[in-house]
Amino acid sequence: MQVSAPAHQSHPGILAARNGAVPLATPRQIQAIREPLQRLQAIASPDRSVVSDEWKSKGTAFEYGSAANPDLSPIPIDAFTGRAHESGTESGVVPLDLSEYLETEYPATAPNLLANFVKIVSGKRLETYANATSQAFYVLRGRGSTKTEWGSISWAKGDVFVLPAASRPVTHHADSDDKDGAAFYWVHDEPLLNYLGVKPNETRFEPTLFRAQDMTDEVMRLRNEPGSEDRNRCGILLATESTAKSTKTLSHVLWALYNLLPAKSFQKPHKHSALALDLAVYAPQGTYTLMGPELNSKGEIIDPVRVDWATGGMFTTPPGWWHSHHNDSDEDAWVFPIQDAALYTYQRTLNIRFGPEEAQHIQEHRQVGATFKGKNIRVHHANGTPPPL
Ligand SMILES: [Fe+2]
Repeated sequence: MQVSAPAHQSHPGILAARNGAVPLATPRQIQAIREPLQRLQAIASPDRSVVSDEWKSKGTAFEYGSAANPDLSPIPIDAFTGRAHESGTESGVVPLDLSEYLETEYPATAPNLLANFVKIVSGKRLETYANATSQAFYVLRGRGSTKTEWGSISWAKGDVFVLPAASRPVTHHADSDDKDGAAFYWVHDEPLLNYLGVKPNETRFEPTLFRAQDMTDEVMRLRNEPGSEDRNRCGILLATESTAKSTKTLSHVLWALYNLLPAKSFQKPHKHSALALDLAVYAPQGTYTLMGPELNSKGEIIDPVRVDWATGGMFTTPPGWWHSHHNDSDEDAWVFPIQDAALYTYQRTLNIRFGPEEAQHIQEHRQVGATFKGKNIRVHHANGTPPPL
């Protein structure tokens, strides 16, 4: 009886014999012939899948001290007026693009975020889409509706809605009753996804709508609470059902504060690791922000830059800069900052600091590192010894 060798063990050099009938060969015999043939084959035709040398040529090593704080382009202080959404006769999206300064190959207002003004002509429709995990819309003007893959909503001036990763564009419609049409301030995290080179494959929170009246009522309730004048600010942080349990932010990336700056008042300096994209919702003459990288022992910002607010406009505040908001006018002012602070909060690196506390540290010659107020930090030594007291 003859037994045919399995096809994967065959080799033309042996199999040509005996008119197609293959004699039984032991694995050792086959291997003895195969190995020298494979070596010859490798010399004649090198395996292109072995790329060790190519990969090796791509690595670079830097001396630690010279590269630990690399020289990236700074995030600019910039202000955009509302002219882009107030003028013109066409519907469209106007990116507030600082990519030239940030040196990104894609539109970006900040490394992780792109802010836009969206204008919709009265009675017309407009589609918007972003490769994003989170999209926040603030209604600057008008009323209308938005159709999404999760359903349709109606909106009016001052409303806020936030959408998770969308698989297709959303369609906005501006009611024809408003001759000036409608406009949004629209912020999303497409630059972050571009930087990572990814597309979202799941939604991380439910689409959520915040009505203007509800937000205003809540801020006013807080304003009238005893002791409210001692708070650093009078505002509310917006959160979805899922983020309310964790970071207390607008999404797992975005952070938003609906903030009242009462007439003839100012909010003392503070700073945080996330930058801010502040929409001036209502800004009477004499409202402005002072910002600078250093604080003195009195809790004052040293040599600050002044950025004046303009209703319907937006301004940037660089990460880590001290900033204080001022209202010298006789009217209340409103501001709606959006940040990527949810990411920092999740990482326990928001590092938010308030001027009076920091001034105290300076006076006491103390340097405070982390500001995250986690309790019961677990300390475990690998050798099992208890941590030093
Ligand atoms: Fe801030």
